[in-house]
Amino acid sequence: KFVPTGEVTGEHDLTSNAGLGKLKPTSVSTAPIAGQKPGTSGLRKKVAEFKKENYLNNFVQAAFDAIKASGTDISKGSLVIGGDGRYFNPEAIQILIQMGVANGVRRFWIGQDGLLSTPAVSAIIREGGPRWQKAFGAFILTASHNPGGPTEDFGIKYNCEHGEPAPERMTDEIYANTTTIKSYKICKEFPNIDIGAAGHSKIMSDDGSAEVNIEVIDSTEAHVKLLKSIFDFSAIRGLLDRPDFSMVYDAMHGVNGPYVKKVFCDILGQDLSVTLNCVPKDDFNGGHADPNLTYAKELVAVMGLNRKGEKIDMGGRPIPSFGAAADGDGDRNMILGTQFFVSPSDSLAVIVANADTIPFFRTQGGLKGVARSMPTSGAVDLVAKDLNYSLFETPTGWKYFGNLMDSKELFDGAEYTPFICGEESFGTGSDHIREKDGLWAVLAWLSILAHANTNSLSDTLVTVEDIVKAHWAKYGRNYYSRWDFENMNATKANAMMDKMRAETDANTGKTVGKYSIEKSDDFVYVDPVDGSVAKKQGMRFLMTDGSRIIFRLSGTAGSGATVRMYIEQYEPTKIDMVASEALADLIRVALDLSDLKGFLGTEEPTVIT
Ligand code: G6P
Ligand code: ZN
Repeated sequence: KFVPTGEVTGEHDLTSNAGLGKLKPTSVSTAPIAGQKPGTSGLRKKVAEFKKENYLNNFVQAAFDAIKASGTDISKGSLVIGGDGRYFNPEAIQILIQMGVANGVRRFWIGQDGLLSTPAVSAIIREGGPRWQKAFGAFILTASHNPGGPTEDFGIKYNCEHGEPAPERMTDEIYANTTTIKSYKICKEFPNIDIGAAGHSKIMSDDGSAEVNIEVIDSTEAHVKLLKSIFDFSAIRGLLDRPDFSMVYDAMHGVNGPYVKKVFCDILGQDLSVTLNCVPKDDFNGGHADPNLTYAKELVAVMGLNRKGEKIDMGGRPIPSFGAAADGDGDRNMILGTQFFVSPSDSLAVIVANADTIPFFRTQGGLKGVARSMPTSGAVDLVAKDLNYSLFETPTGWKYFGNLMDSKELFDGAEYTPFICGEESFGTGSDHIREKDGLWAVLAWLSILAHANTNSLSDTLVTVEDIVKAHWAKYGRNYYSRWDFENMNATKANAMMDKMRAETDANTGKTVGKYSIEKSDDFVYVDPVDGSVAKKQGMRFLMTDGSRIIFRLSGTAGSGATVRMYIEQYEPTKIDMVASEALADLIRVALDLSDLKGFLGTEEPTVIT
């Protein structure tokens, strides 16, 4: 049961050491360790790095100091801890508890087996428990879609009191603290907590003057309860139970497996055959838990596609009607139909266009706000314009959406503003939490399919492909492709970006192939709510015909630099071309404008999405 059962007794002063016993904090001397700057989504490094003496401790102390400096009283409320189950999670959780206690945290909620998906953490922070004070924040132990295991990546990120990722001013402060740290606090005598079973432990000081409560909670309950309040589960079940409908959900051995089983098997009554790779593994079974055409190989093959999204010969084998995949920490999603790939940008546009099929939006007076990251295609812009939703374009990173969702000013003082956001990087979600939510996106698609089929006059199943094609027929098609060049030399990648930055004026107005560059710039974002400015968010080439070329360096690369090249071309009527062919000319222009081969020595991307 999610509701924590521990009693909250008075606040205790842990600063005097006498009689504290197991709760006695020790101050351990340390020195700054270079390179602890959190990226787009927390600190991600190789496990070996994290295992080095004081590495995790330094970062965690720096985080606690920044959390306290932000005005949070960590002795009140609870701290949530959980992760995607990757290697080193169990050890890190015990260290976090011991350091949390030493720093003054009195109440912890830990996901059973250390598992909590990123969206579930956000949901838990926002919900809180009725008897315990609401959580003030959470540590999420994940490197998202980066590979896991002893020789791969580990990661840690902090989320704040509304369930949102730590804002940049906080991550900057955490980093600054790591550069000046002299000591950290830890309770060395604190017992190891058994995180394998749900339940409550109370650890008392020897003299009985202080106590710490630790609740190991069911990983799925709060999140699933929230999803049930958003979607019409019986309508979705109606679709799933159709004899001509079948689906497969690939959790890629990440944390989403238990959530998929809970929703689709326990609640929606489906057979286990719906689940693929739904047992979490600490190395993701040697895979790369990133839901895209390249890495979700098994699902992509089951759905009858190759890594380019092209149909393969299935020799007459049956293909499911619907396929979905999740990343390691369960916040990303990929949506597939029978031999049909839905690009994340199109997925966002279709969900926004059909938001009123979801009770959450219908009952709140309809959707009002829509946001996408800058590199995400403009497909959703066309829908927003048509349906009169406010549209926002932010830098890459989910954290930029939170301010917009919580703003009353942007929406004429409205108490509450239903909001949907999405990114080309397989992230979609709404204001029900403050993270993207893979399971939410899948249920949104199933709601759309259920609705379309209920209203259909024919007995034949309305498919994912039918829905997307009808969408293109109405709005036109934004052909889109992202090329990733992973593990590149960081100096050379930066030099390439610098060159484009230096040439923005020269490039503006230039004719390249059949395109003419209306504007070339480095994207700058001014947050409409708090006026904060984010610079250097990506080199853009905006063509006069509305096509776009964008270059960015990834903020989540584990090692080396990852160059991302985004290509988009809008076609109002020609919607039936093969994407790679429709984009071939623009891709050539992009490679030449950047002199990618000159800088990186290759023109072969490692991943195409
Ligand atoms: C994480 C963030 C996303 C972001 C993505 C891509 O998943 O949560 O918001 O879009 O990383 O980041 P990158 O910098 O690697 O392109
Ligand atoms: Zn993720």
